[in-house]
Amino acid sequence: MPPRNREIILGIGGGIAAYKSADLLRRLRDSGFLVTVIPTRSSLNFVGKATWEALSSREVHEDLWSNVHSVPHIALAKKAAAIVIAPTTADLLARIAQGRADDLLTNTVIASPAPLILVPAMHPEMWLNPATQANVALLKSRGVHIIEPDTGRLTGEDSGVGRFPETARILSSIQEVLGASSDYAGKRVLISAGGTREAIDPVRYIGNNSSGKQGYSIASAAASRGASVTLVSANVQLPDLDGVRIIHVKSAMEMQSALTEEFANCDLLVMAAAVADARPSVVGEVKIGKEDLQRIELIRNPDIVHELVRVKSAHQVVIGFAAETGANAIDRARKKLSVKGLDLLFCNDVSGGAIFNSEITSGTILDSAGNHWDVMDISKDTLADQLLDLALNKLG
Ligand code: CTP
Repeated sequence: MPPRNREIILGIGGGIAAYKSADLLRRLRDSGFLVTVIPTRSSLNFVGKATWEALSSREVHEDLWSNVHSVPHIALAKKAAAIVIAPTTADLLARIAQGRADDLLTNTVIASPAPLILVPAMHPEMWLNPATQANVALLKSRGVHIIEPDTGRLTGEDSGVGRFPETARILSSIQEVLGASSDYAGKRVLISAGGTREAIDPVRYIGNNSSGKQGYSIASAAASRGASVTLVSANVQLPDLDGVRIIHVKSAMEMQSALTEEFANCDLLVMAAAVADARPSVVGEVKIGKEDLQRIELIRNPDIVHELVRVKSAHQVVIGFAAETGANAIDRARKKLSVKGLDLLFCNDVSGGAIFNSEITSGTILDSAGNHWDVMDISKDTLADQLLDLALNKLG
């Protein structure tokens, strides 16, 4: 189970990545943390106090001198399970390394015995500057946890090392520091991802737009939470994941036989793949000439998840996905959940091709008890952890 009722102080440094901490804050709260946000003065140029107050459901203070009687930073500093500063600027690294206490955040840091987790994000030149690197080395030598920045696109046209990491990586590092990273230890998770391709002839197929990103996010999150993970992957452009057993398939029939083989050995099945509902009834042994391509006769593919649910045992949990467009999407999704006998279902609104190949997603999580939770513009990694949290409650 995710840790409950744990106090975290989330410091926000004055960098453009400050806005990404809004997602981190939400995920921390979803994972059961109580979060007090302390923004630095300069960070308020990027994200205002109101955002932090709304997302943390707590009052936010940024300086030492207003509300002196009510700023409980020393008490807070003492009871925090961790202080996370995301983003940490080069200036904050320098001030913390020097032990300075010239604002509320650095005062809190110096007054707290809690583990300190820093998430530096800045331009590559600033990150690689010898002064910054020396500060990082000094802080590490004192036991401060530094989450290394990602490499990739930065503000404007720049790219390189210094990017704010994905929320899921920060979250799993925090949970690791707090010893809460193994809530899936001993659980076996089976995941399907990607989109099936149904051969028409040796060169053509019927396929779909699924990128596989959501299934891969779930596989990676489950593995980092300690699960033993098998991923049945259909036609994706993504690299294999460390620590995840991957079975590559192409068609719906291949996917069905791989999943049927593995299903009895899993506790949780996450059916994130987009399975073609039908396949050509005859597959050309050689390339079909255009004059014979007027029409393709199709036969229905089996409903893989539905068939698996029929043979599921009581301890097993099954999550499905529904890609819907247009009105009444939720009603159709709820019907799918009940007809297919699923425990949880994520209903994606894919109108206009949104979501496919995107890093973010929106939609509604439904459960078999009739509950639903809307999610809006969250990363696929975040959704992965949320689904795993909900499934874990059901797995017991
Ligand atoms: N699914 C499956 N086998 C199929 C089709 C879908 O296992 N032949 C699974 C999908 O992986 C997903 C869920 O069923 O988890 C819902 O998929 P979706 O394509 O939304 O539903 P369909 O049953 O295909 O309904 P329709 O295409 O008519 O909306």
